[in-house]
Amino acid sequence: MEPIGFIESCFKDKFGTPRQPGLVKSAWAKLRIRADLQPAEALQGLEGFSHVWLVWVFHQNKVARYHAKVHPPRMGGKSIGLFATRTPHRPNPIGLSLVELVKVEADGIIVSGADLVDGTPILDIKPYLPEIESIPDAKTGWTSQVQKDPIQVEFTEHASKLLAQWQQRNPDKKLKEVIEDTLKLDPRPVVYRGYEGNDGASYRNKHAVRLFDGDVHFEFVNANLVTVLDILFTHN
Ligand SMILES: C[S@@+](CC[C@H](N)C(=O)[O-])C[C@H]1O[C@@H](n2cnc3c(N)ncnc32)[C@H](O)[C@@H]1O
Repeated sequence: MEPIGFIESCFKDKFGTPRQPGLVKSAWAKLRIRADLQPAEALQGLEGFSHVWLVWVFHQNKVARYHAKVHPPRMGGKSIGLFATRTPHRPNPIGLSLVELVKVEADGIIVSGADLVDGTPILDIKPYLPEIESIPDAKTGWTSQVQKDPIQVEFTEHASKLLAQWQQRNPDKKLKEVIEDTLKLDPRPVVYRGYEGNDGASYRNKHAVRLFDGDVHFEFVNANLVTVLDILFTHN
């Protein structure tokens, strides 16, 4: 199989990329489709759909490993069979994401809410058919037992000023919303959690996510509060 194109996404690394689509609704991404596939023709009619499935490759998986049981971050350390999860580490590293279709352009599509890293190869686009694919009373297995306290996001005065400058440079992007929704999901690996307030473990609490063309530095003050400390972006 050959990718039909590659995604340009606001998430530049795996760290910080949401664990499922729709969790960061304002996440921006553009899929440019290969010119030889005649995108303008191939996309005709898609504009009538509000959501599409993306079928894609976990191309940043570093090691080809097979574990029949995995530890989903939401299970906080417990393990479960890989086929009962959406782990990237599968026999065939294929991803599936339901995203909102924002716009059809001549060379591709703009979508929001994607959980894909920048540069991800896309294998296919399929329209979402709610009358067939939406099953409101479906059983949701172990995921229905997972509960998490909400996380609040605050900005220091310094970070607020930088956010305003960064926003001026990117007037069409919802930067604050993307930052807040990304951090509310707690992007930290499970082993980094639980050390908040411990000065000797500040490397576990202070991190940065690359969003769009900026680096957003933040600190978990406690399990339910994260402070944005700094935003680095090119000022020229
Ligand atoms: C749990 S997977 C779910 C993906 C998809 N919704 C699915 O169910 O197949 C989402 C995670 O995959 C990782 N990811 C996203 N794009 C990737 C890529 N191109 N290569 C490897 N990992 C990726 C990110 O860490 C993201 O949080």
